[in-house]
Amino acid sequence: MNTNFALIGIYLVAHAYGTANPGPTACTNLTNSLGVEKVISNPLNLQYLASTEDYWNALQSDYKPSCIIYPKSSQDVSVALQSIRASGSRFAIKAGGHNTNNFFSSVDQGVLIDLSSLNAISYDPTTTLAIYQPGSTYGDLYDYYAQFNRTVLGPTLGGVGTGAGLGGGLSYLSPQYGMACDDFRELEVVLPSGEIVNASSESYPDLFFGLRGGGGNAYGVVTKYTVQSRPVGEFYAGNLIYLFEQSDAVADAIRDFMQYNPDPKASIIATYLKLPTPDLDLNLDEAILMFLVYDGLDPGDVFNNFTSIPYLLNTMSAKTYPEVINMPIPYLAQLSRGDNVFRVGVHQVTDNSYKAALNAWRNWAETNKGRYELLTFDFEPVPESLTEASNAQNGGNAMQMPAGPWYWISYILETPPFMSQVDYDAVQTSFKEMVDSVGNADGLPLFINDASADQNPLSTFSTFAELQQIKNKYDPDGFFTGKTGGWSFA
Ligand SMILES: Cc1cc2nc3c(=O)[nH]c(=O)nc-3n(C[C@H](O)[C@H](O)[C@H](O)COP(=O)(O)OP(=O)(O)OC[C@H]3O[C@@H](n4cnc5c(N)ncnc54)[C@H](O)[C@@H]3O)c2cc1C
Ligand SMILES: *[C@@H]1O[C@H](CO)[C@@H](O)[C@H](O)[C@H]1NC(C)=O
Ligand SMILES: *[C@@H]1O[C@H](CO)[C@@H](O)[C@H](O)[C@H]1NC(C)=O
Ligand SMILES: *[C@@H]1O[C@H](CO)[C@@H](O)[C@H](O)[C@H]1NC(C)=O
Ligand SMILES: *[C@@H]1O[C@H](CO)[C@@H](O)[C@H](O)[C@H]1NC(C)=O
Repeated sequence: MNTNFALIGIYLVAHAYGTANPGPTACTNLTNSLGVEKVISNPLNLQYLASTEDYWNALQSDYKPSCIIYPKSSQDVSVALQSIRASGSRFAIKAGGHNTNNFFSSVDQGVLIDLSSLNAISYDPTTTLAIYQPGSTYGDLYDYYAQFNRTVLGPTLGGVGTGAGLGGGLSYLSPQYGMACDDFRELEVVLPSGEIVNASSESYPDLFFGLRGGGGNAYGVVTKYTVQSRPVGEFYAGNLIYLFEQSDAVADAIRDFMQYNPDPKASIIATYLKLPTPDLDLNLDEAILMFLVYDGLDPGDVFNNFTSIPYLLNTMSAKTYPEVINMPIPYLAQLSRGDNVFRVGVHQVTDNSYKAALNAWRNWAETNKGRYELLTFDFEPVPESLTEASNAQNGGNAMQMPAGPWYWISYILETPPFMSQVDYDAVQTSFKEMVDSVGNADGLPLFINDASADQNPLSTFSTFAELQQIKNKYDPDGFFTGKTGGWSFA
């Protein structure tokens, strides 16, 4: 064969599909354009190690990016996206690293965009708007805004990153104010094209809509959040811990609370736990950890259905908001790191789904001893006051939440470390079948913050067709679809 034709062929292939070594090519280019202090290619560098070790699903730490970039401005992010696009490299956008799905915020042999250096925070007392970049954790944000007796809505544990807001963001304050994303007022976004825009209800309203609960890394990179802050004073809050004997009584009290609680200042998260210890038919492997939070010092009798059930421990007391977020212990969101995977269910409060789901989960736990380190099952209520507050702001979020009450179940499976791939795949399939066997309520959205990628949660949104259009408009040539992880729009 004529060598010249072969070379032309290689040249054409390289241009059609990017360069032969796209990750390193992008990294060399970025080192030249952004400078060595913002681009780290040495996998033994301490900052590189810190970024790759800091994933809540420890399996994401196995991947080795060609380099990690630490942008300090939206312009840096724009330069990075253009260079990554030109090279044909894969990439990932990482905020707090708490999403459990493969390649959502991790990348193997591509460019990791670590947003942790993009971390300015401020507060405007005249407008009561909170303005922050994506590099802080929500714990950092709660601590900062507490000095003004304010907070922003976000997850119930501090270590989780700002990606949680783009997925909706369920907060203890959600029954009063809606989801975290409902409080967004303006987002600065670097589009897949590299263009930097401000999205709000006035400008780029479709983009603003998609980013309020429709996920992050589909439409661009958010580089600044302008958010309505909310007042916080003292809370009456704590944990109640129950042993197995109370499982059913507590489940009934949770169901009653989800259907009847009249006070939006009262908020609960209910966590059932299964430990890996042998069961021995004594059920000592199960406990219930209730998080009860009241915005104010006098909860009246709203939690009486819980406190009247015999418990092992009760830590209810007056607390500041940062103290509420540190329950039961500070840094829980970091300490619980392991081979963790999420799944989600969505259900009506008026049927027997709460019992059916709990029983399916318990049976699975009994028959799968040895295949998990820890199993948790969370009831996450979505009361009517939440969906009303959500739909009253900006015309509602990307979920267009149907009127509550209804609820999500968040399932977490932590598998033992060093499982073989075959065993790992088998236990994940079995766990998926258990969750699928419970079924979901028709017409309610699966919560993407708690979902596994294979659940295709966006397809359960009534707005799915609209989100597909927004995705096609802002990522017209499929750059993000092809080169980074994220929710399916297909
Ligand atoms: C211990 C724990 C507790 C949790 N508690 C809650 C809770 O109370 N309420 C709740 O709603 N959720 C909760 N979650 C779920 C959490 O919201 C999701 O895991 C979320 O994806 C985490 O965001 P992150 O920034 O930490 O993670 P990442 O993995 O860094 O980011 C998540 C996704 O968003 C994308 N992304 C992040 N930032 C940007 C950006 N600026 N621009 C574009 N894309 C971006 C990433 O690419 C990735 O796909 C919890 C999770 C854990 C592990
Ligand atoms: C980096 O890549 C971009 C996009 O292809 C290009 O415009 C720029 O000239 C390159 N910069 C360097 C320093 O190589
Ligand atoms: C916050 O609230 C406390 C207690 O009510 C009060 O003493 C303090 O002055 C408030 N701080 C601000 C900045 O409003
Ligand atoms: C976005 O809004 C900010 C003010 O919040 C402004 O400084 C900036 O110039 C705007 N950017 C664009 C691209 O309009
Ligand atoms: C407590 O439980 C009773 C039923 O036993 C129910 O009628 C009541 O509404 C519940 N209250 C709350 C706040 O959950």
